[in-house]
Amino acid sequence: MAQKMIMSKLFKKTLLIIIILFIVIAVTIAISSGWNLYKDLVQEYKSKGTAIAKSIAGSSVETLLNRDASTIQAMIDQFLEISGVFYVFVVDAQGEIVSHTFVPNVPDEILKIKNEKAKTISIQDLNTEGGGKFIDIAAPILEGIAGYVHVGMDKGMIMSQMQAAMIRQLALIAIIFIFSVTMAYFLVNKISQPLNQLSEYARKLASHDFSSNVDIKSHDEIGLLADTMKSMATDLREVFDRYEQAINDAVVELQNTLAYLTAVIDNMADGLLVTDTDGVITHVNPALSYMFALRETDLIGKNCRDLFGNEFAELVRKSIDNSYEVYTSEIGLAHNRIGRAVATGIHQDTFETDDKGIGSVILIRDITSEKEVDRMKTDFISTVSHELRTPLTSVRGFTEIIKRKLEDDIFMKFSDDSDKKTVKAVKRIRENIDIILSEGERLTALINDVLDISKLEAGKVEWKMENIQPADVIERAIGATSSLFEQKKLAFVRDIDNDLPEVIGDKDRFIQVVINLLSNAVKFTETGSVACRVKRTGNEVTVSVIDTGIGISDADKEHVFEKFRQAGDTLTDKPMGTGLGLSICKQIIEYHGGRIWVESELGKGSSFFFTLPVNAKSGHTSARGVDIIPGKEV
Ligand SMILES: Nc1ncnc2c1ncn2[C@@H]1O[C@H](COP(=O)(O)OP(=O)(O)O)[C@@H](O)[C@H]1O
Ligand SMILES: [Mg+2]
Repeated sequence: MAQKMIMSKLFKKTLLIIIILFIVIAVTIAISSGWNLYKDLVQEYKSKGTAIAKSIAGSSVETLLNRDASTIQAMIDQFLEISGVFYVFVVDAQGEIVSHTFVPNVPDEILKIKNEKAKTISIQDLNTEGGGKFIDIAAPILEGIAGYVHVGMDKGMIMSQMQAAMIRQLALIAIIFIFSVTMAYFLVNKISQPLNQLSEYARKLASHDFSSNVDIKSHDEIGLLADTMKSMATDLREVFDRYEQAINDAVVELQNTLAYLTAVIDNMADGLLVTDTDGVITHVNPALSYMFALRETDLIGKNCRDLFGNEFAELVRKSIDNSYEVYTSEIGLAHNRIGRAVATGIHQDTFETDDKGIGSVILIRDITSEKEVDRMKTDFISTVSHELRTPLTSVRGFTEIIKRKLEDDIFMKFSDDSDKKTVKAVKRIRENIDIILSEGERLTALINDVLDISKLEAGKVEWKMENIQPADVIERAIGATSSLFEQKKLAFVRDIDNDLPEVIGDKDRFIQVVINLLSNAVKFTETGSVACRVKRTGNEVTVSVIDTGIGISDADKEHVFEKFRQAGDTLTDKPMGTGLGLSICKQIIEYHGGRIWVESELGKGSSFFFTLPVNAKSGHTSARGVDIIPGKEV
């Protein structure tokens, strides 16, 4: 199909060009040769006519002079037989027609010219109404004295001769035309055939078939084209081979990398689960299948909500929504084991979109034994603390009794007049008993804090959730710490907004938090003031405790909320607390869905902030044992 098209198109074009060319040539030749022929024939007729007229004029002098009309008639009649001669007539000097060859009469137009008198040959064109066109040649007889001979040459003859000549010419051109078209047909065929071969070859190359060849041996442009295409094909084949090799290498490398990564993932001790943005599981490793006692095929393609419940699905959804946060949650595994799931959103930089969330990756670690150890630790701490508290209470109680007895009954007796040694001893005993009492108090506080934190961590705290007015909480805490301010002579600034919204939480625990913060502020401030502010900020109530004390260095700021962490050098400085207060505060606030943080500059004071969400539904998930705690650290 394509072949024929190419051939016929090429041939059609050639044919069109040939036709146009021939028309132009034919018209040009016809016009120019017709014109030349016409001129030549006219010239020929003129000279023929002149010769005839002269010869008649020369030979008829005598006859004319004798006015022998019949002889003249006989003479002129014979000239009519010469081709092209249409008429001959003779006039005398007076212009009278002596004889003529017209049948039956001389036409009027001829009569008009018979009287012209010239001394030499005169030629003119004549057009008669019905008689056609003539060239009239007039020859004087004896310089016109004896009369004139007129010979009329027929122009119509010229035309018909010309016509015949042109028909012959056109016939010749037509023959040449047919011949050229046939030639062109074969020539075009001869060109288009290798062209077709070439186009077929090019088509094969385009479909990457490098095994085909083309057999054109001519040394013309087509041969050159064929050679060029062949060498191009060789080059292309090399390039393709190279690329194929490169792609194969890349594929092998990719496969190896993939196999390596798969091996790493498959041999992880932790369970790995990947979901898409809809929470549908796309990938799991063998450890995970084992943890849930499910086969991989039971997991892949399933929605994690259907398999692991709402809590887990919620964790996945949160990590997808906030792909830069890490979310953790506990999850029940098969065989009564407990796992901790750590979920993070997967985001990917692609060419089209930058940073697009594509799912979530969840790592699950079996924490059953840790939980068990934790539980044992908590139990142990609770028991020990409890056991310590009882004797400690006795120690403190008896110390106080001893102190009172000593003061009331014994020290009284050693008044100022006693000897110096006794006075000194009394002073020493008093100081030492005071130390026993204050250290006993510190020990009680420590035991209480330790008990608190272990209960919080074990989730054994019983929360009394209720609607609370934040202002009440603050007032209660201020009341409990007012004596501290008096002791240290620090100014206290209170700045509490009116119309604060209610929050839901455990009131006693909130009071504990504020007391902790206020007592810290007093403890670490020597001069200046302590301020307590409560404001509504959006959907939260923000409480801040601001002091002008020693401040906290940047390095310590990160750690003050950790257990047993005290800023500064605890070895040289006298410890003034347990280092558990802020850790307890953090646990309580985060349980209620709030945040706690510190801003501080060393030497200039510290500001502790915490937020409580308004309308918080906090606590409910945790109360059921699963704690979803946002945070960077795992
Ligand atoms: N208002 C404050 N100014 C300076 N340092 C503080 C302040 N509050 C707490 N800190 C630092 O944080 C540490 C931890 O505080 P906390 O957990 O309450 O323990 P404790 O009060 O028993 O030392 C403190 O020991 C102290 O170094
Ligand atoms: Mg404290």
